[in-house]
Amino acid sequence: MFSFFQKHQKPFFEGLCDIHNHLLPGIDDGSKDINSSAEMLNEFEALGFKSTIPTPHIYKELYPNTPETIKNAFDLLKQHQGHENSIKINSYAAEYMVDEVFMKNLEQSSPLLLLNDTYILLEINFFGKTTMLKSACFSLCQKNITPILAHPERYHMIKDISEYQNLKNQGFYFQLNALSLLGQYGPEVKQKAEKLLKAGLYDFVATDAHSVNDLIKLKNLSLTKKLGIQWEKIREFQLKLFS
Ligand SMILES: [Fe+2]
Repeated sequence: MFSFFQKHQKPFFEGLCDIHNHLLPGIDDGSKDINSSAEMLNEFEALGFKSTIPTPHIYKELYPNTPETIKNAFDLLKQHQGHENSIKINSYAAEYMVDEVFMKNLEQSSPLLLLNDTYILLEINFFGKTTMLKSACFSLCQKNITPILAHPERYHMIKDISEYQNLKNQGFYFQLNALSLLGQYGPEVKQKAEKLLKAGLYDFVATDAHSVNDLIKLKNLSLTKKLGIQWEKIREFQLKLFS
């Protein structure tokens, strides 16, 4: 018999590619060094992930990364990846802060680091407005690039489901941070993540892991059967698009 208290039983991350994390060593607020990155890789594997695409911040004010700094950190990680885990790290991308600098780069058609040559991972300031997102989306879609909004549940200025729906209608895909469901960013964000999940608004799920501890916490993830059904839909979609 269906019960409100029944739990989702399937493994959450089995076979998935993690499309948002800060695994690369020493270039943003994620992994501090190559040893931390190695520990993170072991935990990715323990969670069931098959592959991972590192996405360091590109944010002029705090983490002024470039395709070159990211490539260097990626090469360093690849050189040090031992044989103790089999997780694939075949490419890298970035998490772009949508600000004036990003908009200018878009205008100038500067090279962008994409996921699967198709998608771009975007974030905005947690307390900022969404005004720039619309023109960013328009400009990206003209270049045949599909924008994925990272952790939409974390933006305090987006309050109603209808505002989220508008962004989806503009062409954004949504990526859920699994840690939001564990209350990592507070009860309000957790509640909002559950609401968006229930409404079927997410397309992708990722760890956004900044450290080995973030990944260890994900072992405690638990969902109701009802939310688990939505989670499985996302997982199946993601499995088709990212290997
Ligand atoms: Fe991130």
